Amino acid sequence: MSKYLVNGGFRLCGSAELQGAKNSALPILAASLMCGGESVIFNCPRLSDVSAAANILRYLGCSVRREGDAVLVNCDAVCREDIPDSLMREMRGSVIFLGALLSRNGRAVMTFPGGCDLGPRPIDLHLKALKSLGAQIKERYGVIECSAPNGLSGAKIALSFPSVGATENIILAASTAKGTTTLTNAAREPEIVDLCEFLNKAGAKIYGAGEGVIVIDGVKSLSGVNHTVIPDRIVAATLMSAAAATGSQLVLEGVIQSHLNAVISVFEESGCYIKCEMGKMLIKPPERLSAMPMIRTMPYPGFPTDAQAVLMSAACLGKGTSVFVENIFENRYKHVGELLRLGADIRVENKVAVVNGREKLYAAEVEARDLRGAAALVVAALAAEGESEISGIEYLERGYEDFELLLSSLGAKVKRI
Ligand code: EPZ
Repeated sequence: MSKYLVNGGFRLCGSAELQGAKNSALPILAASLMCGGESVIFNCPRLSDVSAAANILRYLGCSVRREGDAVLVNCDAVCREDIPDSLMREMRGSVIFLGALLSRNGRAVMTFPGGCDLGPRPIDLHLKALKSLGAQIKERYGVIECSAPNGLSGAKIALSFPSVGATENIILAASTAKGTTTLTNAAREPEIVDLCEFLNKAGAKIYGAGEGVIVIDGVKSLSGVNHTVIPDRIVAATLMSAAAATGSQLVLEGVIQSHLNAVISVFEESGCYIKCEMGKMLIKPPERLSAMPMIRTMPYPGFPTDAQAVLMSAACLGKGTSVFVENIFENRYKHVGELLRLGADIRVENKVAVVNGREKLYAAEVEARDLRGAAALVVAALAAEGESEISGIEYLERGYEDFELLLSSLGAKVKRI
């Protein structure tokens, strides 16, 4: 179990370059499985989730190597159709390989995904959609067996919920299906737009990414491309929360402002001055944050569920009461119990968390239980007076590249043990 020792209560200062987006790099690595020749993915973050995806590609027979900030993938020698449980368990996002493997081989076998426990992580929407594209699916003893011996055929698919993963799996499977697929109520996250840009460069014909309706004209084959992953908007929200929680002025570089509108407006309404230009964001929080407006997590472009935990940490020090409603996942308040140990005043009732801001938080020993909860504990510990010990840092390292180095470069007193 790796830990952080955080000596908090100090201001941060300086500027930080945003890493590439984890939730864009993962589906793009899966998409490279469908491309002939070599794909070069630039700005690919060094994360354990990315290593897990690389291990899956290698197991399937691909060559994967890193050169600086780029990952080079060649999947010409794919020789397997299954992903073993040990590899599936390393990362929740591994279900994203289902659509790519099925369209590449006409068959895919994998176990139900593991990963962060944010509540039951069903994949019913994925499977229902793949069936409408012509896949036969057998599920037994936790193993999913998909086959499409005659290939996949385009279909009209309406998602009952704009699931990010299901949208990605449908786009991957439909890209080389016969005929046209029309997907309505598609997820609109920027990471989906990035995936579609990669696929269209590879020869796919995908229209409307980022809108609610996506049309995919199936093509025969895709070829490897060079692509630069978009910046990670959730890491940006995390650093903004650290700035607000510690009353520090920070500059973030490599920001795409339009990806952060919902987050920016919350911080502005809580008294922060935020200026974005030429890919740089200046955030200047007030001496003490005001209470945040009600935060309801919603599919993009609504407030992102992945930013709920880190903003809650900032709200713990605000003036007044902030209310959070977690609409996306059933069990995404596991950080609350640990924030209470740092002196926060939070009450949770089902989907609603009520945060009464306090003047100060105080160091404690806390334990992370999921990726964004871990980030929230780091943000809170940076503001808490004294030395906090945060265990479960392996969760953090799934999504944050060299985070203790990045925070130290901003003047934080963080040690990884
Ligand atoms: C993606 O997860 C992200 N992961 C998550 O980020 C993110 O929180 C989530 O989208 C929402 O934005 C990756 O991109 C690798 P969903 P995903 O399918 O695809 C239910 C992080 O912290 N659902 O949009 O799993 C599901 O249970 C991670 O970086 C079904 O019921 O999210 C959840 O309640 C955490 N049936 C809701 O929909 C399905 O078939 C949203 O899930 C699929 C999903």
